[in-house]
Amino acid sequence: MGNAATTKKGDSSESVQDFLDKARKDFEEKWAKNQKNTASLDDFERLKTLGTGSFGRVMLVQHKANKTHYAMKILDKQKVVKLKQVEHTLNEKKILQAITFPFLVSLEFHFKDNSNLYMILEYVPGGEMFSHLRKIGRFSEAHSRFYAAQIVLAFEYLHYLDLIYRDLKPENLLLDNQGYLKITDFGFAKRVKGRTWTLCGTPEYLAPEIILSKGYNKAVDWWALGVLMYEMAAGYPPFFADQPIQIYEKIVSGKVRFPSHFSSDLKDLLRNLLQVDLTKRYGNLKNGVTDIKNHKWFAQTEWIAVYQKKVEAPFIPKCKGPGDTSNFDDYEEEALRISSTEKCAKEFNDF
Ligand code: ADE
Repeated sequence: MGNAATTKKGDSSESVQDFLDKARKDFEEKWAKNQKNTASLDDFERLKTLGTGSFGRVMLVQHKANKTHYAMKILDKQKVVKLKQVEHTLNEKKILQAITFPFLVSLEFHFKDNSNLYMILEYVPGGEMFSHLRKIGRFSEAHSRFYAAQIVLAFEYLHYLDLIYRDLKPENLLLDNQGYLKITDFGFAKRVKGRTWTLCGTPEYLAPEIILSKGYNKAVDWWALGVLMYEMAAGYPPFFADQPIQIYEKIVSGKVRFPSHFSSDLKDLLRNLLQVDLTKRYGNLKNGVTDIKNHKWFAQTEWIAVYQKKVEAPFIPKCKGPGDTSNFDDYEEEALRISSTEKCAKEFNDF
């Protein structure tokens, strides 16, 4: 008792509560410590670019001593400052160094030099869900449910730690060699007790309260889960148009149309996640995540077995070895240029 979110199936509420309480204790200790400088650039051999962004890139690297492959996220400090992403970048590292969950990418080392910030993340070789989804068109509901369940568990964990993720989309979901998900890119993640106001995210996945410049909370992640579930099962997102402003009009309208192949259970769950009225949105009600986990669309989901990765994955990415990059696109390789003088020291003192 003492837990409003009681559960129906084998996942007894006591063991979920015990798990979350232990997770919070572990997180709080690491959060308070906020470890710094745990390796150096020289420890790694850089092999290939896996992705690029506005203020940095991600590269496959190999640790010279232990031979393990990692994904090295490199952020150019001066570009981060120009794009006003200093606070977001500090949030990202402070959060990543304190979390542990099977469906969240793990941070193994981090450090900085005169020019850049570096985060050494586990390498997830199966590529982005985005590439697989576009290649095969859409996922079956069972296939979509397998991924959605992992997002539900990951958000249950993050939200219990007062963390909002804020950037759910197929590009940020990587497949591991067992066909399970890893959420990557915590660049918009934030520890928030209560409300926050920053406009960030990706147009198609923004909740109406963000668009309308209201203070918002964790419920924006549950809205984004609805968008993701729709996109996985349909092959296209629920609100789309050529220009962001047209997308925003659709999002705030409170109207959604579903493909005729969607099951009644899927449509029901999506109407409750893509709910403009925050006092009615699933995940944001008194029973929290339980309303989602106990919904009929998830009736066949064994939550504990998913967490333990004991459920057979619907799709295993082709992978020829630990450093295989064939599931990622090719990018132009550029030399890393490191200044002989320290840039933006004050801004990134806490990194
Ligand atoms: N691990 C963290 N980010 C990654 C990425 N973008 N590609 C592969 N592995 C990763």
